[in-house]
Formats: sequence, structure tokens, C-alpha cells
Amino acid sequence: MVLITGGAGFIGSNLVQYWLETTNDVVINVDVLTYAGNMRNLAAVMGNQRHIFLRGDIGETGLISQVLTKYRPRAIINLAAESHVDRSIHDPDAFIKTNVVATLGLLKAALAYWDALAGSEKDQFRFLHVSTDEVYGSLDESAPAFRETTAYAPNSPYAASKAASDHLVRSYHHTYGLPVLTTNCSNNYGPYQFPEKFVPLVIHRALSGKPLPIYGDGRNVRDWLHVSDHCVAIRCVLERGQPGEVYNIGASNERTNLEVAHRLCDILDEGKPRRDGKSYREQITFVKDRPGHDRRYAIDASKIRCELGWKFKETFESGLRKTVRWYFENREWVANVTGHGYRDWIALHYGERASSA
Ligand code: NAD
Ligand code: TYD
Repeated sequence: MVLITGGAGFIGSNLVQYWLETTNDVVINVDVLTYAGNMRNLAAVMGNQRHIFLRGDIGETGLISQVLTKYRPRAIINLAAESHVDRSIHDPDAFIKTNVVATLGLLKAALAYWDALAGSEKDQFRFLHVSTDEVYGSLDESAPAFRETTAYAPNSPYAASKAASDHLVRSYHHTYGLPVLTTNCSNNYGPYQFPEKFVPLVIHRALSGKPLPIYGDGRNVRDWLHVSDHCVAIRCVLERGQPGEVYNIGASNERTNLEVAHRLCDILDEGKPRRDGKSYREQITFVKDRPGHDRRYAIDASKIRCELGWKFKETFESGLRKTVRWYFENREWVANVTGHGYRDWIALHYGERASSA
């Protein structure tokens, strides 16, 4: 039995499916269903007897305590969060409320539960906190990749809120002994990612004949990992990681945003050519930069590879191709998540960047 929070979001829904497919565990999935959480992401597992979905907020310590006492999971894997940098720039409060205050609520419930356990149940219990490489700040072009020892230097309200949650998780280990594990992963892409994020945004807008907004000069670098490899890494850290330790996760796939957009356009040109015979690249539009836009992220994942034996499977090419195919084959899913609320976000955020976007 494991408790996964945020299991109706992008990574969470991939993790729930992966967990049910590859273990015999019962998965309790607690998600409050914000705009980013979607029951359609869980359609494939809704009939599964080993999946228990509960709508709830991780910040409600009483509710989470009840769930823990009732189901007695051997682990909590925390993915519940506000996750989009641009939204954190428009509305930082929601990020502090969820990523900091609600995470503290979850930690309180986890500690009370763990304190009351005994014997092997107590020894084996783990609290795994899923975090991001963005807590480390921005790298210059030639700087070495982030290691677990790199000092925190969060630059966006999102990164600051995740950094705060990481510190709270760390403090619960050092002060109270809670057996925590923290993972800091690079940018994910893959199925079920909400099309506010760069990869699905570009695919969706390309197919809809809309401009593809590239912030600034398009030379900001991200280190991309297919979500399926992230899921395997989370399981690997849960099963073999040392309590109190931090593990960076990434596949050394550094690309500029313009390179990513070009590759996506080229894959679409091959598989779903535009009617006018022109390339989707024609839709690329440079727009006003994101304030405080981090220039480069890069992960050094040697610790998880050498100490825990984790390996990634998807190359950037194979992962992107699968992702494009998934979005193309799941137009109904895309149509469902891009309703009124989504259109309001696009109007608010891109309306002020460029009229053509
Ligand atoms: P997401 O925004 O797609 O999903 C977040 C989920 O959390 C949603 O289902 C939402 O409903 C739920 N949620 C939000 N607040 C909640 C609360 N108070 N209680 C219960 N549920 C709540 O995010 P994602 O991209 O799947 O990211 C998941 C986690 O992984 C986040 O912690 C994020 O910081 C981290 N992460 C993401 C990436 C990435 O590239 N997407 C990379 C590294 C780390
Ligand atoms: P995003 O998917 O928001 O992830 P993060 O900011 O967490 O890295 O953005 C990935 C990169 O793509 C980032 O450098 C910002 C850039 N970007 C654009 O150029 N245009 C866009 O419309 C979006 C959403 C992102």
C-alpha cells in the first residue's frame, strides 16, 4: 500500500499507472483536483480494484491522518503542488499555500502516523518528496550541472516555494527523524501534460494553426526527461534510497527552447504535414521574455545512477516522437482540458506578450 498525492496531475497520473502495472501494491491517490488535476488522466485505472481515489487537500492534516490510519501505507509519495512557473509569476500566493503550507500539513500528518507505528512497519516507512531542479537556480553556459550539493538559489516564486518545501521535508528528518527522501528532477515531458507547459503547448498550438510563442531569444536551455523514466527513478529511490538523502534525476538532454520547438515542428511535418505544404516552423513567434527567466538547467544524475543503479530508457528523439503521437491520438483529451479556464489563461498570459500569440 502506497499513498500518492497529486496523482491526477501529469507526473502523478503517469506514476499511478506505472505503479499499478509494475507492483502488487494498492495505490491510494489523494488529489484536490485543481485546474491541473483531471480524472480523465486516470481513465485507464478507474476500474482497477487496487486504485483508491480520494479527493482531498494535502494541507488538511486531519483528513490525511484519517486516510493514513485507515489504509496504513508503507510510503507517501508527494507530488501534489502548483507547478507552473508563469502562473507563479501572476499569482504567487497559491504556490505558498499549496507548496509550502499544505506540504507542512502533510508532513505533520505523516509524522504523527509514523510516530505511532512500531517494528518493521516503522522501519520501512518512507516519505518521498518529489521536487525540481529549479530550486538550484540558473546556470551559465559553461557551468557544471547541478549536483545534490549545489546551493539552493531559487529565482521564481514557483522555485522558491518548492525550495521551501524541500527545506521543510529536510527539517522533518533532522528534527523528528521522519525517514524522508527528496528527488530533484529536470523538466519532464510525455502524455497527460497540461498544455500550459512548453512541449504540449507547442504541439497543441501547432496542430491548431496558432503561433508558437518562444520567450526571449529562445536560447534558454532545459534538460529534458521523459516522464516514464522519472517514474522508474521515483520507485528506485523509494526502494533503495537512504533516508535523509537527496537524489537528482535527469538524462543529460540539454536543449535550447528553439531546438525543442524545431524538433517538434519537424516531427509534425513528417507525420501530420500542414495542408499548405509549409513547415510548422513558420508558426514560431518570438514573444516578450518571462521575467527572471532562468537561462539554463542541467542535472548531474551520477548519484542515482551509481548508488541506486537507475538508468533512463527514452532518448530525447524517441520520447518526443511518442509524445507527439500521444497528443495527436488523444485530441479528445486535449479538447477537454483546453476549455474556458484554459482559454482565460492563454488570453491573460499571452495577450500581454504579443497580439499575434
Ligand atoms: P501538475 O500541475 O500536472 O499536477 C499537480 C497535481 O497536484 C494536480 O493533479 C493537482 O490537482 C494536485 N494538487 C495541487 N494542490 C493540491 C493539494 N493541496 N492537495 C492535493 N492535490 C493537489 O504537476 P506535475 O507536472 O505533475 O508535477 C508534479 C510534481 O513534480 C510537482 O511537485 C512538481 O513540482 C514536480 N516536478 C515537476 C516537473 C515537471 O517538469 N512537470 C519536473 C520536476 C519536478
Ligand atoms: P515550462 O514548460 O513552463 O517549464 P519551466 O519553466 O518549468 O522550465 O517552460 C520550459 C521552457 O520553455 C522555459 O525556458 C520557458 C519556455 N517557454 C516558452 O518559450 N514559451 C512558452 O509559451 C512557455 C510556456 C515556455
